[in-house]
Amino acid sequence: MILVTGATGNVGRHVVGELLCADVKVRALTRDPATARLPGEVEVARTGEMPLDGVTSMFLNPAVFWNGLGDLLDRARDHGVRRVVMLSSSAALDDDPRNVIGAHHLEFERAIEASGLEWTFVRPGEFATNALAWADTIRAGEPVREPYARARTTPIHERDIAAVAARALLSDGLVGAKPVLSGPEALTYPEMVEIIGAAAGIPARFEEISPERAREEMLRRPYMREAIVDALLRVRAEAVDRAPEISPEVERITGRPARTFAEWAADHF
Ligand SMILES: NC(=O)c1ccc[n+]([C@@H]2O[C@H](COP(=O)([O-])OP(=O)(O)OC[C@H]3O[C@@H](n4cnc5c(N)ncnc54)[C@H](OP(=O)(O)O)[C@@H]3O)[C@@H](O)[C@H]2O)c1
Repeated sequence: MILVTGATGNVGRHVVGELLCADVKVRALTRDPATARLPGEVEVARTGEMPLDGVTSMFLNPAVFWNGLGDLLDRARDHGVRRVVMLSSSAALDDDPRNVIGAHHLEFERAIEASGLEWTFVRPGEFATNALAWADTIRAGEPVREPYARARTTPIHERDIAAVAARALLSDGLVGAKPVLSGPEALTYPEMVEIIGAAAGIPARFEEISPERAREEMLRRPYMREAIVDALLRVRAEAVDRAPEISPEVERITGRPARTFAEWAADHF
């Protein structure tokens, strides 16, 4: 039995799908089974209960454990869980202490490494799904307003992250690995907005705003702490006019090329 935390999420839902295709038993965790819309063949359980009986491997999404892992790893070992595949982040490559996002993921990774369980840390860069935050603006015909128009990023499709995570859960080849994942191309936000507009069949515009204005707007969003906002803006500032690395890992691990942002946009718009 494989336990999937955050099973209704961007990545988790596809991890569940991949595991079902491989014909393995899945226990999917959600805070609200009534609204989870998970496939009928899945055993659905409440996140708060974290039932570990019969579980051999687990997919761990830190979004679920915003309060820390508590005694989860000890309980997992006691229940005979052998493997943890964690949805980490390429931010974990940055050991600058100002990068609170990297530090948060490294803290989880270190606890898992020390647990004695087998592990894989899947380290994606920016999710393509972050662009869903622009959806209402684009559909309303308003310009997407972001700072650092010349910063490049490598948006990755959530299906590709899930496919790698599923490989790590289902085979032994990624035990002890920390694959860094990216999409197949380096794009600016204006380019991404244009691609979404083409997929949606509507004109989509981009307007560059100052980092100061972006900071104010980001701080107004729920759950956005100052340190996170500053870390996100610093990463964008450092990406201006820089060619980010394109990772070959999705294709190497799954045997199929990473999906383009145009494919992602066609899936969502
Ligand atoms: N966004 C990026 O660019 C990026 C880049 C690298 C790494 N990451 C990593 O990926 C994670 C996000 O993955 P994702 O997009 O798949 O997750 P997600 O869709 O945001 O969340 C996954 C699921 O977790 C549950 N959840 C959310 N908040 C929760 C909370 N406070 N307490 C308990 N459960 C909660 C929700 O399920 P229910 O409502 O069904 O309970 C949600 O569907 C980040 O936290 C980060 O660790 C993100």
